[in-house]
Amino acid sequence: MSAEAPGTAEIGNQQREWFRSAVVYQIYPRSFADSNGDGIGDLRGIIGRLDYLEKLGVDVVWLSPVYTSPQDDNGYDISNYQDIDPVFGSLEDLDELLRGLHSRGMKLVMDLVVNHTSDEHSWFVESRSAKDNPKRDWYWWRPPREGRPPGPGSEPNNWGSAFSGPAWEYDEATGEYYLHLFSRKQPDLNWENPQVRAAIYDMMNWWLDRGVDGFRMDVINFISKDTSLPDGVRTPGMLYGDGSPYYICGPRIHEFLKEMHEEVFAGRDKELLTVGEMPGVTVQDAVLFTDPARNEVDMVFQFEHVAVDQEAGNKWRPKPLKLTELKASLGRWQAGLADRGWNSLYWGNHDQARAVSRFGNDGKYRELSAKMLAGILHLHRGTPFIYQGEELGMTNMAFGAISDYRDIEVLNHHREATTHLGHTDAEVLAALAPLNRDNARTPVQWDATRHAGFTTGAPWIVVNPNANHINAAAQVDDSDSVYNFYRRMIELRHSDPVVAHGDFTMLLPDDEHIYAFMRSLPGRKLLVVGNFSDAEHTADVDAEWTGAALVIGNYPDAGPPTGTGIRLRPWELLVLAG
Ligand code: GLC
Ligand code: CA
Repeated sequence: MSAEAPGTAEIGNQQREWFRSAVVYQIYPRSFADSNGDGIGDLRGIIGRLDYLEKLGVDVVWLSPVYTSPQDDNGYDISNYQDIDPVFGSLEDLDELLRGLHSRGMKLVMDLVVNHTSDEHSWFVESRSAKDNPKRDWYWWRPPREGRPPGPGSEPNNWGSAFSGPAWEYDEATGEYYLHLFSRKQPDLNWENPQVRAAIYDMMNWWLDRGVDGFRMDVINFISKDTSLPDGVRTPGMLYGDGSPYYICGPRIHEFLKEMHEEVFAGRDKELLTVGEMPGVTVQDAVLFTDPARNEVDMVFQFEHVAVDQEAGNKWRPKPLKLTELKASLGRWQAGLADRGWNSLYWGNHDQARAVSRFGNDGKYRELSAKMLAGILHLHRGTPFIYQGEELGMTNMAFGAISDYRDIEVLNHHREATTHLGHTDAEVLAALAPLNRDNARTPVQWDATRHAGFTTGAPWIVVNPNANHINAAAQVDDSDSVYNFYRRMIELRHSDPVVAHGDFTMLLPDDEHIYAFMRSLPGRKLLVVGNFSDAEHTADVDAEWTGAALVIGNYPDAGPPTGTGIRLRPWELLVLAG
């Protein structure tokens, strides 16, 4: 962690939490680095790359799930929370990774997937075995819909699963259905049952006692459900009803998170990091979740800004990005959490398309736009998250046939859309290309050798052919690379208190090309302006910025602005100090 910078004396105690000046790096282990040639990334592969992370300067690593799992959803379906899947390594490897990170001054945050388990978890195996099994009530079991014969088609309600098909699976053994908001191999845990909660808290304490530094909590705002499980609204053209109003931030969510804090984090929370992944969370709710005085979580991942480029929040119906909408969304969150609570900041993760392809220009201006996006995000108020490969400007993958894809979400959607909705293969492939999750899951591009240096074997998913010129080996020692631009952004957050603690003011909200904002603390101000387009544009900012000192820019020959209005070249970023 960086030393306390001068000038922070004025900042109140509430605002001094360490994570305000920290940067998190997300590792999706399957695609990071493979140590044993089986084509799948693993813990020893990560251990071999710790110097790379240390040089980048990140403070925390968030590791996507490595627990025992049938890998139906790449580890987000856990069959044993207290062991490591052999595909990733062993508990000893995890301990070694932890030591390696700690000795380099980095923390390790584990993924916590407790809205559901795998159907192969012993809890569920017991639960499904008989109606009178003591663990029956650990999951959501229901009889067929009133007056209907048992079997598929008589589901207790009309909810759809996030991965296509109904959210219920019929189980012949007992003639009832279990709820699964995700795949049928991910049954939802029943958090109403106090034994379930106690078992989860025990497991979390076991990990903290082992030395991990916190949790990123998977869809944690889905754990409290309206126990009457009513039908959801079914919009025309959809096969299923929308159950989300009955499980997003449900009636007991704040109670459960407070209880978790009390049972797990209390007394050791100052050093830990807790991040709640919360699809559909509102700003008002996020204030409550992240207000330090309420003891729930440190920050939430919200989804509003990653829905602006799709129709009705449907990722299979992409639409062009409007910069004004993106700014309105992020600006609303900056304003909403200005006084209480804290934002997380991200452009991408393992569920999203690659940032430079989505928000930048991944062709002619790939490097410039990747750097500009880094600058814009990292200079907002909040804790930035870097998704593996983003620091290299890695791009979306042009997949060919459906057989190139691996993600259960894509495969299920393709099947449903071609069989039940009457779309052609070509239509479905075109619609899912921009925003599908496999875009972010192609292997990290380490060098220009075979399989990008990711594996000596056959990779589990294709390597992007642009690895021949987009790779870490080409960037780490090049001071002008995207990687080194990220390094400088991280350094700036560590060294300049206005980045970690300053107020945020959005400027030029109606400009369709320029993203502009100011950060300020008594005695120090930063102006950040970025051009989100392939053409030159002028940022109409106050004359006071004429001649202001240049902090950083993404064009090598940038200098302080000379007249009123700042002329920006394509995808140019300027950061000025006043
Ligand atoms: C979260 C994860 C995603 C996973 C889902 C179900 O959204 O980030 O990858 O598929 O939850 O666990
Ligand atoms: Ca491996």
